[in-house]
Amino acid sequence: MATEETLILIKPDGVARGLTGEILGRIERKGYVLADMKLVQPDRALLERHYAEHAGKPFFEPLIEFMLSGPSVAVRATGNRVIEGFRSLAGTTEPTTAAPGTIRGDLGRDWGLKVQQNLVHGSDSPESAAQELEIWFG
Ligand code: RTP
Ligand code: MG
Repeated sequence: MATEETLILIKPDGVARGLTGEILGRIERKGYVLADMKLVQPDRALLERHYAEHAGKPFFEPLIEFMLSGPSVAVRATGNRVIEGFRSLAGTTEPTTAAPGTIRGDLGRDWGLKVQQNLVHGSDSPESAAQELEIWFG
């Protein structure tokens, strides 16, 4: 079966809280391969491309500002069905209600800010994975 690839981001809250190792460890222990990885301070232009689908939503500007607030770790992860597998590891968007056992459920919470700070991003389809890997890794 063809191996799939996805873009995972450890967002600025995850990096700032010192959770990079914990999150990378969960990805590795699940059996996915960290094929490429870097610490990146993205600029607004990169983030507006990455989050283009959310342009115009009320959380768009706070989301861009949150993502500009510090570096993220960008990871190219590979493995069969890694796209849905990582989203399952990450848990649902809101950390307060994300299932225990998931990254967001175990390590995240609602901080009462303008945008959900939920530690990680994972591509949601093969098309967005290809596009996002191009944006972050060229
Ligand atoms: P992601 O794209 O980051 O993997 O997360 P997701 O699919 O679970 O969430 P999505 O709906 O794509 O939203 C992108 C990111 O925007 C922030 N968000 N905040 N109402 C809010 O406060 C709100 N809604 C979305 C989150 O950081 C979310 O991951
Ligand atoms: Mg999304």
